Amino acid sequence: MNQGIAIYPGSFDPPTYGHLDLMERGAKIFEELIVAILRNSEKTPMFSVAERLEMLKALTGHLKNVRIDTFDGLMVEYAKSMEAVCILRGIRAISDYEYELQMALMNRKLEPTLETVFMMPADKYSYVSSRLVREVAQAGGPVKGLVPEMVEQKLREKLEPAYRFHDQMHEVPPLLSGGKEKKRKKKS
Ligand code: PNS
Repeated sequence: MNQGIAIYPGSFDPPTYGHLDLMERGAKIFEELIVAILRNSEKTPMFSVAERLEMLKALTGHLKNVRIDTFDGLMVEYAKSMEAVCILRGIRAISDYEYELQMALMNRKLEPTLETVFMMPADKYSYVSSRLVREVAQAGGPVKGLVPEMVEQKLREKLEPAYRFHDQMHEVPPLLSGGKEKKRKKKS
């Protein structure tokens, strides 16, 4: 299909399976999809722009019409400079809609020639967000199935103390488990 260039902008901190799902869908309908990481967000990111760029490049290597880039300033200005005709955004649930509508209408006000296209990721990713992935990982919890293995590994490296603490807390020492076993046996 030949639908011109589209920009898929975001923070991708970190990239999730939901993001990848949307990229795969976008790559099918646009001639080229540029995944654009916002450089100067107000938020303090967990992963540097360079780390996110590297992860996204590796994760989209199989999608030949997907390019990873970074941008600063107004997204619509970046989109115009790339000769894009569309902005791609994902909507998971109705709760996303209000924010996305507001952003799409503001972008339209700023640049009326650019259309925003919304796509839904697979329903199995409808609850997955970078924010929740960060929250779970920061507490040392499992993020398997929410992010690609490579991202899972990077989270583990970055949050090694949290994971070590979590693993220690959930590991039953042999002595303690022996004690519990005995108590349980007495009761039965
Ligand atoms: O993944 P996110 O954090 O929801 O992405 C938000 C993003 C990067 C798409 C948005 O904050 C953005 O486009 N920022 C660039 C500045 C801009 O153009 N602001 C006006 C948009 S209404």
